[in-house]
Amino acid sequence: MKPATRLRPALLSRYLRTEVFGRECCIMVDRTGSTNADALALELDAPHGAVVVAEYQTAGRGRGDRTWFSPPGANLLFSVLLRPPAPATAWPGLVLVAGVAVYEVVRGLVAAPVRLKWPNDVLIYGRKVAGILCQSRLGKNPAVAVGIGLNVNMTTRDLPRDLRTSAISLRDLDGRAHSRARVLALLLAALERQYDFWRRDRKRVWRAWEAAAHLRGAPIRVVEARREYDAVAQGLDRAGRLLVTIRGRRRTVVSGDVLLLKE
Ligand code: BTN
Repeated sequence: MKPATRLRPALLSRYLRTEVFGRECCIMVDRTGSTNADALALELDAPHGAVVVAEYQTAGRGRGDRTWFSPPGANLLFSVLLRPPAPATAWPGLVLVAGVAVYEVVRGLVAAPVRLKWPNDVLIYGRKVAGILCQSRLGKNPAVAVGIGLNVNMTTRDLPRDLRTSAISLRDLDGRAHSRARVLALLLAALERQYDFWRRDRKRVWRAWEAAAHLRGAPIRVVEARREYDAVAQGLDRAGRLLVTIRGRRRTVVSGDVLLLKE
């Protein structure tokens, strides 16, 4: 394979069609700890829609206490700083907003069945093609960093052995090297669009998310900190929390992992 083209702001701007995201502030670095941490460490007056992109993260964070590994220069690792006017209690829903955006873009790029898994996974054939992590900073000028890792051009051989069966990239699916600048531009535009929908009408985004997750009626196993149980997924509530039934009784899942019992 040809060596990857380094991401540069000039290359991104060739493709960028957003109004706000990535326009006023877009920082691209070769190596950092975590783009989420960097976005949250921007000045207090950093603009809504500021973007931090890295070629490599030394301490990429996943959900819970997990890490996010991505070989240098192969994939997309970025965070968008948002300042939603909604109360911070509504911000956890942003992970679903980003999920719908990533889902739309990935579906447009590869001819493979893409599926969302609550709350933050984007899967193809049961393997992770992207992960999303939202982290916030409260206090003066509160903000939330929406962090997205999308596996674009790596091959499974670039991964540590233990990740080889659980991850997949766009290139694994079609054998092509994708322009990361173009894919990043598509993701920023989709995120901006879904974020606008979310601000105006949450339900619209939740419905799109439910459809992309094939959620209603799906048998799942819910793994919470202290217990594990089988349930049937019913959809999302107004705040984007997962509604399930266990032997006909309704329950709301606030945190935890979900395993799909049937692909
Ligand atoms: C997960 O699947 O658990 C979430 C993974 C999120 C990874 C992205 S990569 C860019 C941003 N910076 C991080 O440290 N994490 C997110």
